[in-house]
Amino acid sequence: MGTAAEIIFRPMQISDVEAVAEMDEICFEEDGWDEDFFLEELRDEHSDYIVGEIEGKIIACAGIKIYLDEAEGMTIAVLPEFQGRGVGKKILTEIIKIAKMRGAKSMIFEVRVSNVPALHIYQKFGFKIVGRIKRYYVTGEDALTMCAKLEDLKCKLPSEK
Ligand SMILES: CC(C)(COP(=O)(O)OP(=O)(O)OC[C@H]1O[C@@H](n2cnc3c(N)ncnc32)[C@H](O)[C@@H]1OP(=O)(O)O)[C@@H](O)C(=O)NCCC(=O)NCCS
Repeated sequence: MGTAAEIIFRPMQISDVEAVAEMDEICFEEDGWDEDFFLEELRDEHSDYIVGEIEGKIIACAGIKIYLDEAEGMTIAVLPEFQGRGVGKKILTEIIKIAKMRGAKSMIFEVRVSNVPALHIYQKFGFKIVGRIKRYYVTGEDALTMCAKLEDLKCKLPSEK
């Protein structure tokens, strides 16, 4: 199987939904979304979802929902066997670029307090913790709300370089 350098990012399509829902279940367990959720999201004009593919296999996905000038991070996931190779940083960069292109000025994510990799990657990009939601998850765990102004983030569109 190829390396993270060979990853291709493209918009998620209806034909990807089965693979993406399977990946979501692996990556998020009880918090994972099912096929119906992703089908609904693909129909929503406010949503944008992308997948990362290596040699035709979907190994990552990310999605946002944009209302007015705020993008809400809906999901970001990398299959466990591909984690820790820079794919998460790449797909987060891609989805931030899409948010910027669609006119978002800020972006928020909710993250489990125990999700060290996700907290690390968001903080590395410049997201700040702006709130804590008690018992946000079905397991009773709290969520941290992380927010960033997109112009401050450490990734730029090609036209901004
Ligand atoms: C969060 C996630 C998308 C990161 O993807 P990834 O491909 O492993 O991330 P990267 O390889 O690009 O690494 C990003 C940074 O996180 C760090 N990191 C990765 N895994 C880590 C871990 N288990 N503990 C601490 N840091 C970790 C990397 O070292 C890297 O930091 P660096 O650039 O300073 O070295 C991935 O762990 C995942 O899919 N998790 C399950 C789903 C999930 O929780 N999504 C987030 C929901 S808010």
